[in-house]
Amino acid sequence: MKSSIFILLVVLVALVSLDFIEAQKEKPNKYKTPPPAGICKKFPIKANGKQNPKGQCSSQLLGEVPGVSKMVSTIITLPPNGAKIPAKKSFKIRVLVSNLQTGFFSDPETDYYDVPQTLTKAGVIQGHAHVTVQKLIGKGVPDPTKFDFFQGLNERADSKGGLEAIVPGNLTKGLYRLCTMVASESHQPVVMPVAKRGSQDDCIRFSIV
Ligand SMILES: *[C@@H]1O[C@H](CO)[C@@H](O)[C@H](O)[C@H]1NC(C)=O
Repeated sequence: MKSSIFILLVVLVALVSLDFIEAQKEKPNKYKTPPPAGICKKFPIKANGKQNPKGQCSSQLLGEVPGVSKMVSTIITLPPNGAKIPAKKSFKIRVLVSNLQTGFFSDPETDYYDVPQTLTKAGVIQGHAHVTVQKLIGKGVPDPTKFDFFQGLNERADSKGGLEAIVPGNLTKGLYRLCTMVASESHQPVVMPVAKRGSQDDCIRFSIV
């Protein structure tokens, strides 16, 4: 009886110290892809922090979701919607974003989708925005693999909450769509608390003439 209690104690101590060693190994590392779980156990390509053009299955948590009073909202102020911009002329894109703590941007080559969404102490999503410009040809749906200008707005917004990019004068004549794509730190689209809401992104159309 005594010996079995002793064995039980040894096993317990061993288990506790194993847990301890595991905890030491698993130091909180913000940029870490979680091991495949649920449906991802069977999916052929597991997320590993890289962008995979063939797709992948991620077991990452959605993370921290803000309250309705802190939902992201965006408007493109430049160029104005419907602007007619002369060919070969460079122009500025300006975007105003509210409820986004800008300047949070993981390396898209190694840390894509590997941080859950995080909030500031004030409950605001930490992330960044992108702008993307596509030529609209005919009335069809634009091909998302084709774009004429793309830029991550990775820096912190200016004192007025604005983010800017300069498009060099290299767009050919035609009708274009400019959209924002707001993202959490590791590039996932922002996760919001309610489904019915205003858009977190904005799009405008402009022409190169
Ligand atoms: C215009 O120049 C930018 C910056 O070099 C580049 O990223 C973009 O792909 C170019 N677009 C076209 C249509 O050539």
